[in-house]
Amino acid sequence: MRATKLAFGLAGLLGLSLANAIPAAAQGTTYTTIERGRYLVNTGDCASCHTDQGGKPYAGALAVPTPFGVIYSTNITPDPATGIGNWSEQDFYKAMHDGIRRDGKHLYPAFPYPWFTKVSREDAHAIKAFLDTLTPVRQQNKPTELSWPLDVREVMAGWNELYFHEGAFKADPTKSEQWNRGAYLVEGLGHCGACHTATNVLGASKTGEKLKGGDFGEHWYAPSLTSNLRDGLGGWSAVEIVEYLKTGANDKSAAAGPMAEVIKNSTQYLSDADLNSIAAYLKDFPVGKVKATTTTEINKQTLSRGGTLYFDNCTGCHMENGEGLAQAFPPLKGSSAVQAAVPDTVIHIVLAGAKMAATPSKPTGFAMPAFDWKLNDKEVADLVNYIRNAWGNHASLTSADAVNKVRKDVEHSGG
Ligand code: HEC
Ligand code: HEC
Ligand code: HEC
Repeated sequence: MRATKLAFGLAGLLGLSLANAIPAAAQGTTYTTIERGRYLVNTGDCASCHTDQGGKPYAGALAVPTPFGVIYSTNITPDPATGIGNWSEQDFYKAMHDGIRRDGKHLYPAFPYPWFTKVSREDAHAIKAFLDTLTPVRQQNKPTELSWPLDVREVMAGWNELYFHEGAFKADPTKSEQWNRGAYLVEGLGHCGACHTATNVLGASKTGEKLKGGDFGEHWYAPSLTSNLRDGLGGWSAVEIVEYLKTGANDKSAAAGPMAEVIKNSTQYLSDADLNSIAAYLKDFPVGKVKATTTTEINKQTLSRGGTLYFDNCTGCHMENGEGLAQAFPPLKGSSAVQAAVPDTVIHIVLAGAKMAATPSKPTGFAMPAFDWKLNDKEVADLVNYIRNAWGNHASLTSADAVNKVRKDVEHSGG
């Protein structure tokens, strides 16, 4: 309880001092500011969470599942009654920077404020200016469906006290301007770590695990973005990173699932300069301490059973040598996605198939067929163990039980 009060006290103080320092920021909202805001809203992928399926743009009501229950995104159109039409510049900045709502209540980190806290005041101003130009939608926010005690927003003060590091982006003067721009985007508005960092039981990013890979949920594993050679981006050139984020695929990999959505709704719209900055930052991201993974050596029988299944089902597109076909079918040999620390994404794709993000530069969006109707759990496990350990690949083994868990959830959600 003490931590709670303390955090509230701090937040109150902060809000006050900030409000005093900044004069009512109603200064010139120019066309350029609005267009800049539009660009930043794409960069932050606001629409993906704030537009419900079949719902009005930015009117919220999308269910965001968390391990503790469902949190609904909110109406961020400028409707004064149900949206953020009555919010001042300062109210908006406080939400982005501190995770505090206009009524002083805490927001849940299903809204990525632990990243957005790094967004500059100037950028927050442009985002608000753009949101103000949207058509107001009158739609009441849905209450959260969380279990006690998390349904009490005050609890988040304690969470913040433990895990939230409020603060503006601090440039590293020893690094280039491009690197710093990349850091600002990856660690801030782009919130890449929201998916690519492991979280603890309370849904907070684990310290020291930044960008080393994380679980998005629904059996999608977001792999390491560090410069690890086997399962990170160590083997990717900066040009390849840019191509992936711009088009949805490169000669090393093709995006599926949540990452295909991120590319479709967000990164494809980024300027080449910003994409190059992101690539420069990621290429320089240290591997750090790698946990010794207990990769049991795959035995000959599994390898040969998996090899036969691979030959019968996969060679048509990914080729016998696992090298795939440039610009159409991603390679599995040497692939960081295939050798990811956790095999869930690979199992998911084999069971349910995947469709590449269709972007203007790669409009076809080749698809990978589903195999859940054809292969049983044991066969999928053998196959996944094979592709993760053939052609010089090396990664941990999975089991029929693990495949079964993914199968149940994938079939539940219809993909
Ligand atoms: C990963 C999903 C996600 C993304 C991305 C996201 N939001 Fe949200 N946002 C949410 C959720 C969920 C809430 C509600 C949280 C709560 O009720 O505590 C929320 C709440 C908010 C609020 C508080 C509104 C209110 O009425 O309380 C604002 C403002 C906001 N978001 C703006 C943005 C902007 C601007 C962006 C893009 C830069 C953005 N959000 C991106 C999920 C997201
Ligand atoms: C909503 C969750 C989410 C967010 C946000 C997200 N990613 Fe991803 N990302 C994923 C998942 C899941 C995968 C694995 C999908 C696959 O292999 O097709 C992935 C894959 C990738 C890959 C391919 C890695 C490989 O080894 O094949 C890159 C590169 C990448 N993401 C970069 C980024 C960057 C940069 C950002 C921030 C601008 C970002 N991601 C934000 C979920 C996310
Ligand atoms: C008809 C062509 C086709 C067949 C057959 C096929 N795939 Fe794929 N596969 C694709 C395409 C296209 C993608 C890219 C889809 C995406 O990421 O959205 C892909 C992606 C993948 C990926 C993810 C690679 C990455 O970079 O993220 C894996 C793993 C994979 N396939 C394994 C298999 C296995 C195992 C089989 C046999 C059971 C198989 N595929 C059969 C076309 C095919």
